[in-house]
Formats: sequence, C-alpha cells, structure tokens
Amino acid sequence: MIAYRRKSEMNNKSLKNVEKFWDKKLFGGHFIKAPYLSETFFEEYRQFRFQKEHHLNWLIDWQSAKGKDILEIGLGIGTDATRWAKYSKSFTGIDLTHEAARVTKLHLRYLGYNGQILKANAEELPFSNGRFDIVYSHGVLHHTPSIEKAFRQVHRVLKSNGLFILMLYTKDSFNYWIRIQFYFRLRFLFEMYRLRKGFEISEPWISHLINYHKTGWQYFSWNVWPHHCTDGPDCEIANIYHKSEIVQLLKDSGFMIKKMRKAHFPTNFLSQKIESILAKYVGFFMFVSAVKN
Ligand SMILES: C[S@@+](CC[C@H](N)C(=O)[O-])C[C@H]1O[C@@H](n2cnc3c(N)ncnc32)[C@H](O)[C@@H]1O
Repeated sequence: MIAYRRKSEMNNKSLKNVEKFWDKKLFGGHFIKAPYLSETFFEEYRQFRFQKEHHLNWLIDWQSAKGKDILEIGLGIGTDATRWAKYSKSFTGIDLTHEAARVTKLHLRYLGYNGQILKANAEELPFSNGRFDIVYSHGVLHHTPSIEKAFRQVHRVLKSNGLFILMLYTKDSFNYWIRIQFYFRLRFLFEMYRLRKGFEISEPWISHLINYHKTGWQYFSWNVWPHHCTDGPDCEIANIYHKSEIVQLLKDSGFMIKKMRKAHFPTNFLSQKIESILAKYVGFFMFVSAVKN
C-alpha cells in the first residue's frame, strides 16, 4: 500500500513537471515569425507543419473522420485538430496544459470549426466508456509518466473495433543511434572542452551543461541522455521505444495492431521523395494504427 502510494506520488510529481515543461514551451511556436496567435501565425504554422511533416498528408486519412467521433490527445498548436475537426461528426481535444487547450480553441475558431477542447490528462481521461470511434495522438504519449495507464484509458474510451492512431519515437532510427547517442554525446564533450579553453558556447549546450552540473554524470548516461535530446534539454520525459516494445505495450492494453510505419527524416538538402524513402527504414517517428479488441 505504502509502495503504491509512493509510486503514485512520484507519478503525480513527474506529471506536474511534464505540464510545467510543455506550458512553457508550446510545441513548435518558436519556428514562426508572425505575431503569436494572430491569424497569420496559425496559417504559417499549418503550412510549416504540413511541409516539414509532409508524411502527415498521406499517412493519415483525415477524411476517414467523416461521420465519426474523434478524440485527439496532446494538441500542441492544434494543427492536426483543424484537420480532424473539419471532417468529423464531433471533435474532442485534450491537452495537459492550459496553453495548448487555449491556443487550439482559438485555432479552431479562426477556421470556423467546432470542437470541445479541454485541459485533461491522458492517464485519466474524463470520458465515459466507448465514446469515440478514433483516438489520435501524435508525439505525446512518450512524454507521459505512465504510457501503460494512458493506453488503458484509450482502450476504455474507444468503441469496440475503434481505431487508435498514434505516433511514438522509435529507437530503430538514425536519429536515436547516430544523432542522439553518438553525435550529440561527442558534441557535448567537445563543447565542454571548448568552454574550458575559454570559448563561448551556445544553446542547447548551455542548458545541457547546467543540467549536467545539477545531475552529475547520470545526466550523460545511456538511458537518461536521450530524454533531453529530442524536445529540448529541459524535457524530462521523452521515451524512445523499440518497435517490439510498442507492439507489446499495445497488445498488453488490448489492441490488435493493423499497421506500423516509420516516418520523419528531415534534412535541408534532400528531396521529399528521398527523405520519405530513408524515413521508411530509419525514420524517428513510428506511426501505428491499432484496433480495440
Ligand atoms: C510534442 S507536443 C505534441 C503536440 C501535437 N500533437 C503535435 O504533434 O504537434 C506534446 C504535447 O503533449 C501534451 N501532453 C504530454 N503529456 C500529456 C498527458 N499526460 N495528457 C495530455 N497531454 C499531454 C503536452 O502538453 C504537449 O502539448
């Protein structure tokens, strides 16, 4: 009982930290020059997102929402929400932070789409059983302290044969092995060396260094370092999974996997076509469609 209470207190503390991190850093907004939350800001962000994440244009069948009740978990700026809301019978979106919920409401309002947007936690969804046809969650559930809890909640709120579409970071990728575990590690050591020699260093290396001083060598360990190398040095939870781990987690929560496909290999010098081919084999994003058993 005491061990259970301790675990749940730790979970609440981590969840508070996750909320604090994302409340400060609304995902992606810093890429856009237009005034924050102006109509142009949202327009530019939609363009930017669907160009950078070009796979979203063909990997996700937005029109399959027609006549369906959709739930999106983890909204960011609400760009994907605008696509679901455009086609669905009803759209509901939740996010752990006030800011993402506020911004998504505004985004939908600018485009004249309806939706119920709430601040809520994926691990305790405030909906009745069997309420939704599709639950969609892109780049979110690897940030929550207990993905198992979140998966069980998704299973509960889906109708029978309902579809769970999600994207999680995958270890079976160039980004994990070459960029994060190899290049970023060496680069960090190099930046520390430069600092010792009296050179100035810039972000994100300054924040990495501060975190390293707070945490010690553990910060640099095999399992901890990757958390801080995806969504920024101060991100505490960014789990990266092997394909087999994702399969097991979904099976354990009562899902049957229909499709898995890797995507996301952004470069500034390759065509989208070549990027897509590389992404299929070594991309960082694992898209999964799974059906509630
Ligand atoms: C990387 S952003 C992704 C946003 C959006 N889906 C996208 O792809 O741009 C992660 C989002 O997940 C939200 N989030 C993290 N943990 C959550 C949880 N347990 N419940 C609900 N939202 C959560 C964060 O607040 C943040 O807005």
